[in-house]
Amino acid sequence: MKIIFDECIDNVVNVLNKEKLFRYDCKIPEDSEVSCLENDFTKLTGFKYAVAMNSCSSAIFISLLCAGVRPGDKVMLPAFTFIAVPSSIIHANAVPVLVDVDDNYVIDMGSLAEVYEKENANFLLLSHMRGRVANMDELLIFCNTHDIKLVEDCAHSLGVLWNGRQAGYHGIAASFSMQSYKMLDGGEGGVLCTNDMDVAIKSMLYAGCYETNWSKHYLTEEGQKLANELVNQLPAYNFRMSNLTAAAIRPQLKQLEDRIQKYNNNYDCFINILDESPYIRIPQFTTGSRPASDTCQFQILTDNKEKIREIIQNLEAQGITLSVFGFSEKNARAFWRWGFCNFPEGKCNKTKNLLLNTADIRLRLAWDKREISRIANIIFETIDSVLSRRAPKVVSF
Ligand SMILES: Cc1ncc(COP(=O)(O)O)c(C=O)c1O
Repeated sequence: MKIIFDECIDNVVNVLNKEKLFRYDCKIPEDSEVSCLENDFTKLTGFKYAVAMNSCSSAIFISLLCAGVRPGDKVMLPAFTFIAVPSSIIHANAVPVLVDVDDNYVIDMGSLAEVYEKENANFLLLSHMRGRVANMDELLIFCNTHDIKLVEDCAHSLGVLWNGRQAGYHGIAASFSMQSYKMLDGGEGGVLCTNDMDVAIKSMLYAGCYETNWSKHYLTEEGQKLANELVNQLPAYNFRMSNLTAAAIRPQLKQLEDRIQKYNNNYDCFINILDESPYIRIPQFTTGSRPASDTCQFQILTDNKEKIREIIQNLEAQGITLSVFGFSEKNARAFWRWGFCNFPEGKCNKTKNLLLNTADIRLRLAWDKREISRIANIIFETIDSVLSRRAPKVVSF
C-alpha cells in the first residue's frame, strides 16, 4: 500500500499558491485547512470537539491545564511511556509519579491502587503506549471512586477502539500525535479531542486563538459566546498547527481504516511466526480493544545482556533494526534514564525488568505479507540460534 501523498502534495501546493499558511488567515472556518482538519477529526473519532496543535506533547500539556493541574500537583503516569510524557507534566510545573505496567504493557491496577494510596495523587495521565489500551471500564470505576482526574495520551492510538469506539473518550481530553512515526504523518502535529465544551474552548485559547479568531473555528453559538468571554483571560502558548501541516494530513484520513486493516493483518502474520519460538513471549491485547498495530513488541526470554546484544547486532547485519527498550543507553522509553525526573532508585522494578528484554519494531506500511514473513523468520531464526547456541539456518525467500 502506498501512502497517498499525491493528494497531500496538491493540497499543500494549493495552500502555498493561495499564500494562506496561517490557520487564521481567513474569514470563515471552511477556508482554514486546520479548522477543516479539526472538523474531519470530530467526524472520524466521534468526539464533539477537536483542537489541532503543533504536537501531541503540546496537546497533553494543555489537557493537564484543563484538568486543573497546578504547580506542585502529583500526576500519575504508567512507567512505560515516552520521555515527552513526563516532560509535559514537568512543563505544567507538576510532579510525575510512576505506576508499574503489567506483562501486557498496560497500567497495572494493583500498582495504581498502591501508588494512589501512598501519594494521594489526584491526576492520572494515561499513555496508551504503542496503542495498548488497559481495561478502561475497570480503570474508570477506579478513577471515579477516588475522584482522580483522567487525561489520555492517545499519541499511538488513532484508530484503536475500546468497546467499538475510538479510544480516549473516558478522560477529560485525549491527545493524538501526527508526528511521522504515527498512524498519520504530518511531520509533526497533534490534536486534542474532548466532549467538554469548556475544555475545548480553553484548549483553543491556550493553543493561541487570540482576539476574535474563535469565529474561524467550527463552534456553536454557545461555544462562540464562551470563547469571546474567555479571550485574554488565559495565556496563549501559541502551539498552533500550520495550514501546511493540516493540508498534508487531511487526505490521509481517508486511508486510515485501510491502513489499520493492513497493519493488523501484517501484525498477525508477524506474531504467528514469532509465537512458535520458545524464546519469545508475545503480549496480549486487552479484551474489548481493537488494536491498530503499526509496531510490535515482544519479550526475548533471556536476561543475558550479551545475548541480547548479539541478537541485535546479528539482525542489524541482516538489515533489520530491532530496538530493545532497556538495552540502549539512550532509549527514550527507559524511565530510569530520565535524569531530569529524579525518580528514586528501585522505582517500578517490574516495568524496568520487562523493558530490559522487550523488543520493539515498526511494521512499515509498505511491507507486504512476503516481506513481513521474511523479516519475522529472520528474527525467529536469529533469536532461536543465539539462545539455543545452535548454528543459524539460512532463511530463504
Ligand atoms: C506515548 C507517546 N506520547 C506522546 C508522544 C508525543 O507526541 P509528539 O511527538 O506528537 O509530541 C509520543 C511521541 O512519540 C509518544 O510516543
